[in-house]
Amino acid sequence: MLAYNIHHVAIAVEDLDKAIAGFESRYNVTPISREIIEDQGVREAMIAIGGSHIQLLEPLSPESPVGRFLSRNGEGMHHLAFAVQDIEAALTHLKNSGARLIDETPRLGGGGHRIAFVHPAELAGTLVELVEVGNG
Ligand code: CO
Repeated sequence: MLAYNIHHVAIAVEDLDKAIAGFESRYNVTPISREIIEDQGVREAMIAIGGSHIQLLEPLSPESPVGRFLSRNGEGMHHLAFAVQDIEAALTHLKNSGARLIDETPRLGGGGHRIAFVHPAELAGTLVELVEVGNG
């Protein structure tokens, strides 16, 4: 099995603080981390729920990928992230099966994890992120 867990479900939001306040008041959960990821043009917060996370993403600019997503679709689910043990092996497997990749090689994502995105055309219109977490 390539992915062994859902690492996070990412939601694009207009206002990170407002979204965090909403999660706090409705579900009594608070972020375990907040981070700015210049490479992806986002400000993010991770909320742990069970063994997985909700990742809230606010764009740093309207021209960033998440900014364009928001202007097209409004707030909502942006991508699904699978935890993988070995991201190179996962990418090789996907490439060999003919999958269309956004990232041919891993790059650095939130929490210092190596990540890569797989084109939405490969999974029913859902953008997929692979997150290398080793055995953890
Ligand atoms: Co993500």
